[in-house]
Amino acid sequence: MLLENRIILITGARGALGQALVAAVQAQGGIAFATDLVAGDGVDMAHDVTSESSWAAVCAEIDRRHGRLDGLVNNAGIIHVGHVEDTGLDDFRRVMAVNVDGVFLGCKLAWPLLRKSDAASIVNVSSTGGLVGSANHVAYVASKGAVRLMSKSVALHGATFDPPIRCNSLHPSLMDGHMARVLSGNPDDPGAGIQAIVAARNPMRRLARTSEVADAAVYLLSSMSGFVTGSELVSDGGSTAQ
Ligand SMILES: NC(=O)c1ccc[n+]([C@@H]2O[C@H](COP(=O)([O-])OP(=O)(O)OC[C@H]3O[C@@H](n4cnc5c(N)ncnc54)[C@H](O)[C@@H]3O)[C@@H](O)[C@H]2O)c1
Repeated sequence: MLLENRIILITGARGALGQALVAAVQAQGGIAFATDLVAGDGVDMAHDVTSESSWAAVCAEIDRRHGRLDGLVNNAGIIHVGHVEDTGLDDFRRVMAVNVDGVFLGCKLAWPLLRKSDAASIVNVSSTGGLVGSANHVAYVASKGAVRLMSKSVALHGATFDPPIRCNSLHPSLMDGHMARVLSGNPDDPGAGIQAIVAARNPMRRLARTSEVADAAVYLLSSMSGFVTGSELVSDGGSTAQ
């Protein structure tokens, strides 16, 4: 058991990766505190990651229940399809609010609770879109690139503490689920089109499995990665290696 009795906050827990993260944490003996915009059905608490007061309420509840936080997975995120010419400023700001403000507020507001842990670890879910550009996702890759360097800055600050608070970014390629369907251009099409695109471009010729990406997060949350901080863990079948 890699996460025995570790308290792990997972945002965006109703989503494709969020559900896999909750399952993977629990499978390793961890205690998942799952949040998303709406509570219920396995989500412990309603939580808007763009809101400072919402973060404060979530952290207060975790403090009341557990008195500390061992792991934070900033997983909530949204995508917007559009290049620089056709992306409106409102859309750009909406993506940045969830994907960047949300991660910043999470690291900042959960910090006092993470300091109460003997081995705290933050995992910020970025994307291969945080490593390489994509003409048609200008807001998304801007936000995920910001998460990449924010994570390193948080890691450098966290390393000054004793015990340290570690922070790493996680970079999955396209996973099976809602986002893949949005990117296929037809949310009702379960993905034949996107499967074909990925099969042609990805060295391992398939989409990422959410369980594989969740297992990579478990590694970063656990003591197995005790000296790993400020790093970028890529789970993409080799797509950014080419
Ligand atoms: N799906 C992919 O192919 C893929 C690839 C690389 C990276 N990612 C990243 O993985 C993470 C999870 O993606 P997913 O595929 O599970 O997406 P998803 O759409 O299935 O789930 C995202 C979840 O975030 C929640 N959310 C949205 N706005 C929120 C807000 N303001 N506050 C709190 N929660 C909010 C949604 O309700 C949803 O449950 C995201 O950060 C995404 O950018 C996804």
